[in-house]
Amino acid sequence: MGQIVLIEDNPSLNELLSINLSTYVGVEVIPRANADEAIGLLTILPTIDLIICKHKIGEESTAKKIVEFINSKKLDTGLIILGGNVKSHSEHAVVIENANEWEKVINTSAKILGISQEILAKKILPDYIPVPVSYFARLDTSCCDVFIRIKKGPDDYQFVKRIHAGDAFSKSMVKRYVEQNLTHFYIAKDMQKNFTNFLSDQLVQLLDQDYDEIDEQIQVIADSYSVATKEILKLGFTSATVQLTDSIVDNMVDVFGKTSEMSGLLHKIINSKSGYLYQHCHMTSVVASECIKNLGIETKADHEKLAFAAFFKDISFVENEDLARITTYDELEASNISEEDWDLVFNHALESSVLIRKHPEAPLGVDEIVKLHHGAMNGKGFSTANVSKMNSLQQIFLISSEFVKELMAFRERGGKPTPIIDELYQKYPTPEMINVIKALETTLKRKNGKKA
Ligand SMILES: [Fe+2]
Repeated sequence: MGQIVLIEDNPSLNELLSINLSTYVGVEVIPRANADEAIGLLTILPTIDLIICKHKIGEESTAKKIVEFINSKKLDTGLIILGGNVKSHSEHAVVIENANEWEKVINTSAKILGISQEILAKKILPDYIPVPVSYFARLDTSCCDVFIRIKKGPDDYQFVKRIHAGDAFSKSMVKRYVEQNLTHFYIAKDMQKNFTNFLSDQLVQLLDQDYDEIDEQIQVIADSYSVATKEILKLGFTSATVQLTDSIVDNMVDVFGKTSEMSGLLHKIINSKSGYLYQHCHMTSVVASECIKNLGIETKADHEKLAFAAFFKDISFVENEDLARITTYDELEASNISEEDWDLVFNHALESSVLIRKHPEAPLGVDEIVKLHHGAMNGKGFSTANVSKMNSLQQIFLISSEFVKELMAFRERGGKPTPIIDELYQKYPTPEMINVIKALETTLKRKNGKKA
């Protein structure tokens, strides 16, 4: 059996490549974290057939180091480099610029190892894709068979059917798997779209119900947001994800309308069982809606527009929510993240605004609100210099987003409350921004007044 060393720090891609290499190419996949670890292994195991490595891991020029080692030892180890603009570090390496083209990686690996396309085709087994276990928390039945993956050996996985299409299943069964730290179920690859449609329809039905308890409604919105954002990033807009998005936005507006007091609502959102991205999204929408209400400029259309913008503003971070915590250039520079993540953070406002334009019914102007939500006019990076060039809705959204970030940071940090409002006044001293911050302050004082 051939042996492949795989160096890829994106966990999803790593898993995808590992499972497909072992299933289709029939090799043992040995994961290594970086070039040094791989070189350590090559020193004692020079018979490794192939190395598949990302061009850079963090600051390390991984591919370059590996090429230098292979050349210096005159090894005939095959090499596939993933990503990077460099043509090639070595005439013997194959560079696959877009690592997401994983099928190309598998085919190239087979070719290097001397496995013909015919043999590869014969090996093709049912193809499964992972689905987060959390997706099943809101389902009682599934439209397709659902499997769990069991590792039988280093290169051998078995898929065992756990839920039959159409059969009811219990929530306790799902809970049991969660308790056993199972993160994903699997479904047949050709059922992916069907399953997304089915799940979206079920969530839309839940969102369309009347809720007496706001906490319950918020939890349904939170669960639906998590599914909708992941599926939009994976499959783009389909009629199912468009409908789900609209229902979530409608519910966010509905919850705001039903609540008389902002702090209580923020409290409920922050205490829901949900992630950073959802909480930041929903609270930004609430705070921005409160501002237009206090300024006497509220309209139903603008409440919707703000909720919509909040939904999409940081959608790029669905796979790595912590990146949403970076909201200044200094924080970005100080962060210890990969080049790809750096680009993702720097460009996310622009990229989200481009994505929104593909939504067939996005309200006019939402794309601009999202593009400007960190103050940079071109949607790249962060800035405080141009806020006076923005319209009032864009300014309100930016202030609300920053306020919520600080509120969440304080909650995590604990200790003495920081004067968030005072800091906002200092950061944005223009007359229009002062007006917006005052509108927010009015609400907060009202709450404090009640308490006193
Ligand atoms: Fe953002």
